[in-house]
Amino acid sequence: MTKNSDYIQIINEATTSLKDKIDWDSITQKPKIALVLGSGLGKFADDLKDKKIVSFEDITHFPPSGVPGHAGRWVYGLTENNIPVLVAQGRYHFYEGHDLKIITLPIRVMKELGIEHVVLTNAAGTANPDFHAGDFMLIDDHINFIGHSPLNGVADERLGPMFVDQSDLYIKKNNDALYALCQEKHADIPVCRGVYCCSMGPQYESAAEVKMFGQLGADALGMSTVPEAIVARQAGIKVNGITCLTNYGTGLSDQPLNHEEVSEMGKKRAPQFMILVNEMVKLLS
Ligand code: HPA
Repeated sequence: MTKNSDYIQIINEATTSLKDKIDWDSITQKPKIALVLGSGLGKFADDLKDKKIVSFEDITHFPPSGVPGHAGRWVYGLTENNIPVLVAQGRYHFYEGHDLKIITLPIRVMKELGIEHVVLTNAAGTANPDFHAGDFMLIDDHINFIGHSPLNGVADERLGPMFVDQSDLYIKKNNDALYALCQEKHADIPVCRGVYCCSMGPQYESAAEVKMFGQLGADALGMSTVPEAIVARQAGIKVNGITCLTNYGTGLSDQPLNHEEVSEMGKKRAPQFMILVNEMVKLLS
C-alpha cells in the first residue's frame, strides 16, 4: 500500500463492502455520530436497538481483530435515546503489526459514510497519582508517542490537508458540557479530565516510563486512539474521547499488570461507561 491512489481505492472498496454487508441503503436513519469502543467497553454496542452487525474480517481490506476483548465488528443501531450511531466495536493497533493506514481505515470509511462526529473510547492506565483505577477521563488533549504519524505518506487533497491543525482536537465545549452534566446529574460517576498519551506497546510502561510520561504532561497511558483522532481531524470529522482508567500505571501501585484484568475492569465499569457515552451522544446529536 504505497501509492495514495491505491489507498483511496482501498477506502472506496472497504466503504462499498461495508455498505453492502450492512445493507446501508435499507437504513432510513443514517448515523452522523460514530464511536470506537476500546478493550472491555463493547457493551454499548451490544445494547443498541435495531442492530445491524458485520464482522471486520467480512469487509474488504479489513483484517480480523486480533485482540482478546475486542469483538472486531461494525454495529449500526439506535441508542436508548433513539439516536442512530455507527460503532466500531474494537479497533486495530500498531502493536498488532498493522500499518497506520489500516489502523485508521475505519475513520476513513466513517468519513465516506457521512459521519460528522466520532467518540473515541479506550482503556488506559493512569499516570496521574490523583486519578484512580475505575475513574473515567474525558480526553482534553493527547501526546503522540508512537513515533509515527498516520498522515505520513497520505498527501492527497481528497483525504484532507497535508498539514493538519491539532488545536481543540477533542472539542472542549463538549467536554465542559459533559463534565458539568455529570457533576449535576451523575455525581456517583467519577469523572476527571486530562491528557491521553499513546505509545507503541504492547508492553505496559515501566515504572520509570510512567514517571516520565507523567512529567511530560500525560494523565492516561494507552496504545490507541491518537492515530484515529489525527485522521478524523484531517478528514474533517469532529472528535471527542472518553478513557476508562482501568489500572494504575506501573509503579503507582504494587499490582503487576495484565490484559485480562484491564478488560475485567472495563467490563466492571460498563454500566457507568454506558451512562457517560449515552450522555455524550445525546449532547452531540
Ligand atoms: N498502559 C498502556 N496501555 C494500557 C494500560 C496501561 O497501563 N492499561 C490499559 N491499556
